[in-house]
Amino acid sequence: MRLSLRFLLPLALALGVVAYVAAPLIDKLTFAWFVRDIDIRANLIANAVQEPLVEMLDDKDRDAARVQRVESLFNRILQDERLFAIAFCDNRGALVYKTPPTMPNNIRCGPVGAPLEETGRIVEEKGGTLHVATRPVVIDGQHLGQLLVVHDISFIQRRSADTRAYLVYLLAAIGGVFALITVIIAEWSWRGWIAGTKALIRGQARFHAQEPGAQDPGGRELRPIARDLAALVNDLETERRTRDESQVSWAPQSLRTILREDLKGEEVLIVSNREPYIHVRRGEGIELQRPASGLVTALEPVMRACSGTWIAHGSGSADRDVVDTNDRVQVPPDNPAYRLRRVWLTKEEEAGYYYGFANEGLWPLCHIAHTRPVFRAADWEQYREVNRRFADAVVEESKSDNPIVLVQDYHFALLPRMIRDRLPGATIITFWHIPWPNPETFGVCPWQTELLEGLLGSSILGFHTQFHCNNFFDTVDRSLEARVDRDTFTISHGGNPTEVHRYPISIEWPPAALARQPAVADCRDAARRELGIGPDVKLGIGVDRLDYTKGILERFAAIERLLEIEPQWIGRFSFLQIAAPSRSSIEEYQSLDARVRAAAQRINERFDTGGCPPIVLRIEHHDADRVYALYRAADLCFVSSLHDGMNLVAKEYVASRDDERGVLILSQFAGASRELLEALIVNPYDTEQCANALRVALAMSPAEQRDRMRSMRSLVREFNVYRWAGRMLLDATRMRNRRKIESQAQTQAQPWPRRGAKILRLRGG
Ligand code: G6P
Repeated sequence: MRLSLRFLLPLALALGVVAYVAAPLIDKLTFAWFVRDIDIRANLIANAVQEPLVEMLDDKDRDAARVQRVESLFNRILQDERLFAIAFCDNRGALVYKTPPTMPNNIRCGPVGAPLEETGRIVEEKGGTLHVATRPVVIDGQHLGQLLVVHDISFIQRRSADTRAYLVYLLAAIGGVFALITVIIAEWSWRGWIAGTKALIRGQARFHAQEPGAQDPGGRELRPIARDLAALVNDLETERRTRDESQVSWAPQSLRTILREDLKGEEVLIVSNREPYIHVRRGEGIELQRPASGLVTALEPVMRACSGTWIAHGSGSADRDVVDTNDRVQVPPDNPAYRLRRVWLTKEEEAGYYYGFANEGLWPLCHIAHTRPVFRAADWEQYREVNRRFADAVVEESKSDNPIVLVQDYHFALLPRMIRDRLPGATIITFWHIPWPNPETFGVCPWQTELLEGLLGSSILGFHTQFHCNNFFDTVDRSLEARVDRDTFTISHGGNPTEVHRYPISIEWPPAALARQPAVADCRDAARRELGIGPDVKLGIGVDRLDYTKGILERFAAIERLLEIEPQWIGRFSFLQIAAPSRSSIEEYQSLDARVRAAAQRINERFDTGGCPPIVLRIEHHDADRVYALYRAADLCFVSSLHDGMNLVAKEYVASRDDERGVLILSQFAGASRELLEALIVNPYDTEQCANALRVALAMSPAEQRDRMRSMRSLVREFNVYRWAGRMLLDATRMRNRRKIESQAQTQAQPWPRRGAKILRLRGG
């Protein structure tokens, strides 16, 4: 409406000025036209009267009879309603005859012999305005006198007033019609502009700028500015990315700054199945455990920096003993930085949701490790129910209606949609920590549609690698009615756009555990003493959960092969395998446990030297300090995952080696191999290649170790977990800002008065 007023006010003003200037002009003009008509009429009357009048003047009758005849002639002519009076003056200039007798006195005869007046005189009388035309009466060249023809012309003024009124009405009507047309066109164009601008803001500017044949979301009129806008958007993106990239040392403070400055202190909620701190009953007391989970390793420092709320399954035997009445506990216990909200699950729920659907279904489905996924309808029901329970917890914990919610992993594929339905203003960033398979593989899942629709409730969906993003695009393309735009990395389904991006996860830098470590030489000595091996024995290390995706058996096969092809390492090389027990209720894991123990035992027996076993197997939980000490003691670290989203052990090993020594052997099927290019990259299924990598690693010169390690360390330092989280939060900021602009633009497009109030509320919020 405000926009329309911008058109209407000048229009009304212009029409007012036209009326003001035109009315007197039209008045003058119409008056002149009418006077000319009256002059012509007066001539006609004078000509018509001339002949009978002359005859009457010639009559030798008595004066009285002549007067009567002349007056009756004049009275007949006076039948014309506009003719007011008629009179005759003789050639001496005396008024001889006049009709009616009431003719105003100030209408007199003109001077004798005066030239013919083309236009009559205008005389103002009380009763109105008169037009007095004086016409000579001539016969045979003899001037007999003058005829005065007087017209009442007050009707001209009445008509002028009417004309003025009509003019005003006409201009008002024209103004009204123009106003209506203007308002319609203005609103119409404005809506087109808004739609176009929104399309451009959403990044579709490139359609205009680069692809002439492509769909034209912004309208033809926007083409000229589309290129500029696209350039502007690109510049801003580049600037943002540059700012992002230039933060070489990403630290907790960087996240706090983003939260404070970019996100204006918005609250952050994290949802994961695994909790960062587990309280376990030990005899009379309570012990605090940190789980073996890459997800927890990465997110815990982020949460410490963000001071939000972490919602997770309370799985520890003493978890209920330490929470408050709202199931919350502040952590870390020694230096509280954020809130942990525990969600309790029944045995049945845990069995169906966690062990069943998540770990017997989705886990093997997404990892190509040749373990058959199992899908049971009862597990699916529990999975859905538990996701709903966590959605309740998110709504309960959220202090606002637009929190930032970081949903973690395959345990919660349905959660983003559930949150979106209940908190439409939330910015939901979902991160899928494990690989995403190709559409054929994912299609095995009977509930693939529900899972995809659930995930597409997210604002942003993250994977570790572009390959996994592409698999996700392909899967959605194949299974859902959705618009997949690979140029803008966006999927639109059911009206909600979800951006799908690659965010390679990492670890904190510097790792907290590193600060508590002794020198590398001390770690080496201590580890060798503890393992009962000589100081010169080369030590390899593997640190995993006991999981069939980690390729532990393949690793052992490579060690065995090394000792076959290079027997000089028998008794001089030992491999310490730390395997944290994991998901041990699942049969597949129990069988793996047995097979791993058997393989280690068999190889150790085969290459027994009585003091230096080729494999030292420790199937137990080790805390971070312990693991870092062992990393520092080892000459090489072997990560042989058959398939892995990222694998943070590889990055931890690199981070632990501040002496720039040690060699990393890394599976090509772990996401980390896309970043740690200086590792010895292997195919874990290729035993010969892996054995050869072990041989190369054991023989690698200190200089080469340093070069490789230095390069990998600089990458992990630069691309640490703060950067991982920071990039997601910056993208979330960009999205929130864009949504704000869009909703403001939308509000502007509403023509009704309540709009102003809405804008104020939006800005205020
Ligand atoms: C992987 C998953 C995590 C999980 C971790 C440990 O890294 O991506 O979500 O927490 O394994 O598994 P667990 O089942 O013990 O939590």
